Amino acid sequence: MTLLSTLSASPTPLPLTIEVREATPADAEAAGRVMYAAFRRFHESRGFPLDFPNVEVATGLAASYIADPLVYGVVAVSGDRIVGSNFLTEGDQIRGVGPISVDPDIQDAGVGRLLMQAVVRRGASALGVRLLQDAFNTKSLALYASLGFRVREPVAVMSGRPRARLAAGAEVRRMTPADLSAADALARRVHGVARGAELRSALGRGTPVVLERGGRLLAYMTMPELWLLNHAVAETEADLMDLIVGAAAACEEPIGFLLPVRHAALFHWCLGQGFAVVKPMTLMTRGEYREPQGAWLPSVMY
Ligand SMILES: CC(C)(COP(=O)(O)OP(=O)(O)OC[C@H]1O[C@@H](n2cnc3c(N)ncnc32)[C@H](O)[C@@H]1OP(=O)(O)O)[C@@H](O)C(=O)NCCC(=O)NCCS
Repeated sequence: MTLLSTLSASPTPLPLTIEVREATPADAEAAGRVMYAAFRRFHESRGFPLDFPNVEVATGLAASYIADPLVYGVVAVSGDRIVGSNFLTEGDQIRGVGPISVDPDIQDAGVGRLLMQAVVRRGASALGVRLLQDAFNTKSLALYASLGFRVREPVAVMSGRPRARLAAGAEVRRMTPADLSAADALARRVHGVARGAELRSALGRGTPVVLERGGRLLAYMTMPELWLLNHAVAETEADLMDLIVGAAAACEEPIGFLLPVRHAALFHWCLGQGFAVVKPMTLMTRGEYREPQGAWLPSVMY
């Protein structure tokens, strides 16, 4: 898909000709550099910690998304320069947008809108499209809402290690392929849809953990040490608390996750356990959305 448009806007002094096209492996490094610079500039300007600690993490993410057949990636190109990118995960019925970024030197000139329009068009026939938005980013909030995304949940990125010990009778262990059908069934009970592709991709990295009691799978979490890609579902909030405790015990580093803060008992419990609030985010959706039943933590996709 190629989309050509001529934009003239400040602060860029000259009119820009922007092409938005599907990303190729050769774009990964330049797209990752722009991603790192854009997120860094914005987060530093607002006094928040960086999502990507260094440029290698951003280029690695861009490369793995571009190489993944279940992710649709687009880049914005001006002349021979990559000036932005955006991604849509497509493995499951619900598509997930992001990360989107535009070169800080040419922001506010319409490039972000073109990149969002490309993934919205691509996801138009899906059951739904979702994203997590930095709640302190007035621009992206307005941009996404103007494209039909609705605010659903206030969310906080949490980081830390809980003080509690795992309750008697509960076991938290690494997920195996044999757990997948029970995990899919649990996600379907909570969200109304399974998110097997996201789960299987985490399983390929060997990171998911499950909570069991009496041999029954009651909760799972995909990537405790990387909040961006960490989603969880559980039958109850108590199960999710046990899962968090057990997952942290299995990890050397502090764990991180996105917590829907309207779940007040869970939020208050996390604070009491010593977790820190890193930053606020907002879950936004387009298309079908069913209020989750049970306990859940979204990834940065949904
Ligand atoms: C967010 C980002 C991708 C947007 O790209 P951009 O090229 O700067 O944005 P655009 O110029 O295409 O669009 C911005 C739109 O928001 C509007 N807007 C900006 N601030 C606004 C505000 N406070 N209130 C209402 N509308 C606002 C603009 O008027 C414009 O709308 P228009 O297309 O109708 O004119 C870019 O700023 C970026 O890379 N930021 C750093 C990374 C990041 O934060 N990513 C998103 C995480 S949620």
